Amino acid sequence: MGRLDGKVALVTGAAKGIGTATAALLASEGAKVLLTDIDEAAGEKAADQVQNQSGTASFIAHDVTDEAAWERVVTHAVETYGRLDILVNNAGIAPKGGPIEDLSLEDWRHVTAIDLDSVFLGCKYAIRAMKQNASESGGSIINISSIMGLVGQANAAAYNAAKGGVRLLTKVAALECAEAGYGIRVNSVHPGFVDTPLVRNAVSDGVVAGRMGSENEAFELLTMLHPIGRLGVPRDIANAILFLASEESAFMTGAELVVDGGYTAR
Ligand SMILES: NC(=O)c1ccc[n+]([C@@H]2O[C@H](COP(=O)([O-])OP(=O)(O)OC[C@H]3O[C@@H](n4cnc5c(N)ncnc54)[C@H](O)[C@@H]3O)[C@@H](O)[C@H]2O)c1
Repeated sequence: MGRLDGKVALVTGAAKGIGTATAALLASEGAKVLLTDIDEAAGEKAADQVQNQSGTASFIAHDVTDEAAWERVVTHAVETYGRLDILVNNAGIAPKGGPIEDLSLEDWRHVTAIDLDSVFLGCKYAIRAMKQNASESGGSIINISSIMGLVGQANAAAYNAAKGGVRLLTKVAALECAEAGYGIRVNSVHPGFVDTPLVRNAVSDGVVAGRMGSENEAFELLTMLHPIGRLGVPRDIANAILFLASEESAFMTGAELVVDGGYTAR
């Protein structure tokens, strides 16, 4: 028996990295999973892989900054699989490097639209769908923040602000759902550095811009920041998301689950 038998999950940004690993793990535990992403080719491929290896999965194109798209995607999930129980607000982009004094308002808005506005929209439409389940198990919304939602880092203003916003938005959504008696739990996850395309691209951008030495040096430095002695892998984060999606975390809402190899313990 799977830990998510009978559940329906929607995972955004599921074409790569943490999103793909999460979709695969939720499906392997019995959930029917709708993968969404702006990258259609990679998203279709990821959904095929999950379907072949783990269970029921499909893909729909989705720009998480587009409110009309959110309404369409949540409706599609309910029409296709009958209900919505789990939303993983995972889609995100890396910090735009550089100090505040050089950051354009356009770049600030681009990052905060994808990393924060999307989470507001996801909560809004998922709550509307999940409250229909209230007489049974309600639902679980998992918002992917970051260690950068807990501690600051120079040259990452928009990302820090967005991820900090996700942390508190999560608590508001958790309180509203609890007070309304919807049975919907809302929690945030705060990964340390995880070896995904997002981190690899950010490191190569940093090397090109002269903010970091070589890629090897950058990865050595990042490893040293994690007392456990390694970067995370997508499955480390997927495991935490599975816990929050399952009934094993039934008494958790508005909580911050830090999965960072000790980065923020210092
Ligand atoms: N990798 C890390 O070290 C790390 C650490 C902390 C938090 N996170 C967070 O985890 C989440 C996943 O990160 P990842 O490392 O797997 O990244 P990734 O780049 O490997 O995957 C992110 C996915 O989001 C998609 N995406 C980007 N913009 C989108 C949009 N507008 N609409 C829909 N999809 C869009 C991308 O196409 C991509 O498939 C992000 O929210 C990220 O901020 C990552």
